[in-house]
Amino acid sequence: MEHFDLPPLGRVAGNVSLPGSKSISNRLLLLAALAEGSTEIRDLLDSDDTRVMLAALAALGVGLEKTAAHAWRVRGVGGPFPVKQGDLFLGNAGTAFRPLTAALALSGGHYKLSGVPRMHERPIGDLVDGLRQIGCDVRYAANEGFPPLAILPAAVSLAAQLSSPLRVRGDVSSQFLTALLMALPLTGRPAVVEMTTELISKPYIEITLNLMARFGVTVQREDWRRFTIPGGQRYSSPGTVHVEGDASGASYFLAAGAIGGGPVRVEGVGRDSIQGDVKFADALATMGARIEMGDNFIEACAPASGKLRTFDLDLNHIPDAAMTLAVAALFADGPCKLRNIASWRVKETDRIAAMATELRKLGATVEEGPDWLGVSPPLTFQANAAIDTYDDHRMAMCFSLAALGGVPVRINDPRCVTKTFPDYFERFGSIAAPVIAIDGPSASGKGTVAQRVATTLGYHFLDSGALYRLTALAAMRAGVALDDESAVAAVATALPATFEGERILLAGDDVTEAIRAEDVGVGASKVAVLPVVRWALLERQRAYRRFPGLVADGRDMGSVVFPGAPVKVFLTASAEARAQRRHKQLIEKGMAANMRTLLQDLQERDARDAARAVAPLRQEDDAALVDTTPMSIDEAVAAVLDIVRGRLPFIN
Ligand code: DC
Repeated sequence: MEHFDLPPLGRVAGNVSLPGSKSISNRLLLLAALAEGSTEIRDLLDSDDTRVMLAALAALGVGLEKTAAHAWRVRGVGGPFPVKQGDLFLGNAGTAFRPLTAALALSGGHYKLSGVPRMHERPIGDLVDGLRQIGCDVRYAANEGFPPLAILPAAVSLAAQLSSPLRVRGDVSSQFLTALLMALPLTGRPAVVEMTTELISKPYIEITLNLMARFGVTVQREDWRRFTIPGGQRYSSPGTVHVEGDASGASYFLAAGAIGGGPVRVEGVGRDSIQGDVKFADALATMGARIEMGDNFIEACAPASGKLRTFDLDLNHIPDAAMTLAVAALFADGPCKLRNIASWRVKETDRIAAMATELRKLGATVEEGPDWLGVSPPLTFQANAAIDTYDDHRMAMCFSLAALGGVPVRINDPRCVTKTFPDYFERFGSIAAPVIAIDGPSASGKGTVAQRVATTLGYHFLDSGALYRLTALAAMRAGVALDDESAVAAVATALPATFEGERILLAGDDVTEAIRAEDVGVGASKVAVLPVVRWALLERQRAYRRFPGLVADGRDMGSVVFPGAPVKVFLTASAEARAQRRHKQLIEKGMAANMRTLLQDLQERDARDAARAVAPLRQEDDAALVDTTPMSIDEAVAAVLDIVRGRLPFIN
């Protein structure tokens, strides 16, 4: 895919479960590899950067076994790497390159480390200087101060060199300190690391120290200037470890909630997180967003006033999530300033320059300095901006928020998100893609119209009635009484249903026709009044929300399932017209039909539907009424499309 076209976006709401954190995943992989014993890592991120680390560890003699979709068993080598020769390609993964450099420098072998061209432009001199101080033989294979590197066995005794502190800079990347801290216990000797400059991105060092402690190695920290690793410590496996959800990845969804109404809830990080980027929520709160935090979730809503405020913040502690804030600045009520972000210059791309260039495409006025960025929001968003992403996953993800300005936005080379968040756009779509909710009484033609509207717009289609019919059919087949609420809800939760184009399968059996039978319809209306059954189907229905958009047909689409749907249509027709349509359908199918009984049935069903306590049939306040009594199907489709175009500008 060359580019991803985001439609103009409005209301955003929903829940997102986060993939594992990149920073934690790659640290845990290395620690588990160096440790004694075997470690089960659960919820490991599956992305380019973790794959690079896994491949490198395998090449270095570490036993790796995938035990579940996101779980790996790592058989630790209990010290330096046993494979003493290797040529490792590490892509653009800083979290693999830097720590492996240090661990390999202390492994006494011959190794070559290289990456993509951008990796060879990212400085590594401070780390190499630190390693050389203790006698490691690390050489630059091309340019002084940059990868690729050649590592050779040390000519001197490393232990002897450790008596005096290692002195390193901490103002370019905190990953150099992380790399040294994680590798030094391989010597088994006491070691001290002293910073010669201010240390940036301190929360990432907290992650490092926290995870090392879980593997049995404690580090004494004096301020952020001196780190002491007492001797005699070895890494040993804690058994099973879980990877938290990615807090940097959470920032996009939280910002979307703050900009687009919300509530948006991210699951997998919360109050107890060890990741510094959860502090992004505080920055959003500074802008006026309403934030709620639980042990394992964070939720964001727009300010009560609806408008986000300007900010002027030092963001050194959240360098990655700060990019999201730069794009959120487009939605502030005045100029915003991001300070102390010099590390952006040496990340996947020069993020300060890239951010300035791309924000301007949306109409913002942007000023940049060596370590700061000033963003003045546009009066109106520039439509159809084509955003370049510089092979930087975070550029692609944070600029997706620009579509919340109500304009179409094109993201070039969107696949760069695979570095840390392969299904980012699917998840963003699940809270942001436009939804057209269509409801109406039985036989109003809404099913046919909804499907035709979806086809015309190229949108996904949800026939929610089919889910209730499938639940009824599955319950009937399993011999479950249709008024046994918890048993039917269990059937609904486990419903083995798949939609393959026009075909509907239940546990592999084609039931496209079967679910339309009269007794199944009656069964569906019975199970549809059970609140626990409706609740059991809720997330399944919400999962249909995907880019470029969704047409959702059914009773509570605009009220419960997608209350923020920007387009709601109530399609109706007189009972006589509906009875006539049904009559014609039945005759065409060669079935017997009687107008009088059909009319009576419909009227009775309308009364029952409107009177029922759970999800009664009614027109939502914000739903547009389309009375199709005098219309053909084509005319009804055209009428709905008119409403859609009125509410969703830019739709073709
Ligand atoms: O639209 P349909 O006839 O296929 O729907 C089957 C039954 O499910 C019908 O009684 C209405 C009910 N239903 C519901 O309660 N909520 C929905 N979202 C969709 C259908």
